[in-house]
Amino acid sequence: MRTSKDFFRPLAVGAPEPLREIPARPSRAIHFFDPSNEKMAAKIPAMVGTVDVLLGNLEDAIKADNKVAAREGLVRIARETDFGPTQLWTRINSLDSPWVLDDLTTLVPAIGDKLDVVMVPKVQGAEDIAYVDRLLAQLEAKAGLQRPILIHAILETARGVANIEEICAASPRMQGLSLGPADLAADRRMKTTRVGGGHPGYLVRQDPASSSADDIAAPRTTYQQDLWHYTIARMVDACAMHGIYPYYGPFGDIADVVACEDQFRNAFLLGCVGTWSLHPKQIAIANRVFSPSVEDIKHARRVVAAMGDGTGAVMLDGKMEDDASLKQCLVMVELAERLAAIDPELKAAYDAIEVDA
Ligand code: GLV
Ligand code: MG
Repeated sequence: MRTSKDFFRPLAVGAPEPLREIPARPSRAIHFFDPSNEKMAAKIPAMVGTVDVLLGNLEDAIKADNKVAAREGLVRIARETDFGPTQLWTRINSLDSPWVLDDLTTLVPAIGDKLDVVMVPKVQGAEDIAYVDRLLAQLEAKAGLQRPILIHAILETARGVANIEEICAASPRMQGLSLGPADLAADRRMKTTRVGGGHPGYLVRQDPASSSADDIAAPRTTYQQDLWHYTIARMVDACAMHGIYPYYGPFGDIADVVACEDQFRNAFLLGCVGTWSLHPKQIAIANRVFSPSVEDIKHARRVVAAMGDGTGAVMLDGKMEDDASLKQCLVMVELAERLAAIDPELKAAYDAIEVDA
């Protein structure tokens, strides 16, 4: 642990000052692309402005033979593209791999001025963040960068989950956490082979009408439960406590847009700010789900207007509203304002809301 006195000191002479607060930049969809895939890379410039984050993936899903091509492809794309309002992130290889050192020592000098966030996979504890933190500071200083590159950790090992608070607290560069359900399932020895999403076997069943053998055997309603609820809830609390942002991760069943939307919405309702997108059709789902609905904003504005100076309580449609529910509404209204600033369609929808008394 660094003392509070040292926490915001740059870790290398000449490195940029760490940020005191992590900006709440819209990041509803983090769209993964393979920079070694020329067809995919050619589509990147046209995607600027249509998605909040474009992420050049160097880790899993990139074949070992393509690791260098992916790294070099990312450098080329970053240099040739004006990203405008869209953030550029990368996912580097894991810290125990033979590629990660070259990932960082190549990317930071070449495109460090364009990279907003480095996603670090398979983070186990604060020591992993400390390693990347110092190395980034050294490379930033050498490259003369003016703003710090932020770190995002993927939560995909049991040890990482157990150490979640210390990971969030490890550096002022920590921007957020994503759930990595595939690696996490394997590391925990969970018995699901799916990439994210639910499982039909993970359920609770309605009580039998009686304890007779016939009633026990009779059909009963079952309710599928969410395998990821515990981990997401832990992630949300750890992130909120440290002023950083939680994200859902990959949803591998690209065809099942309905279950994908449900899973993303659960994460949104629990407090996540965004998710990964593995296919362009998941961008639209994420943008819709991680933006407050027009109905929610209409209600939230009504509560804000009715609550005046924010003290006391009022009744609206038979429901009690007070200081706490006002704060809930302000979370929605502030998010809507941030999103409207970069999304004209959403702005038009929110602007059209008429608040009745
Ligand atoms: C993502 O990297 C995962 O392992 O789910
Ligand atoms: Mg993974």
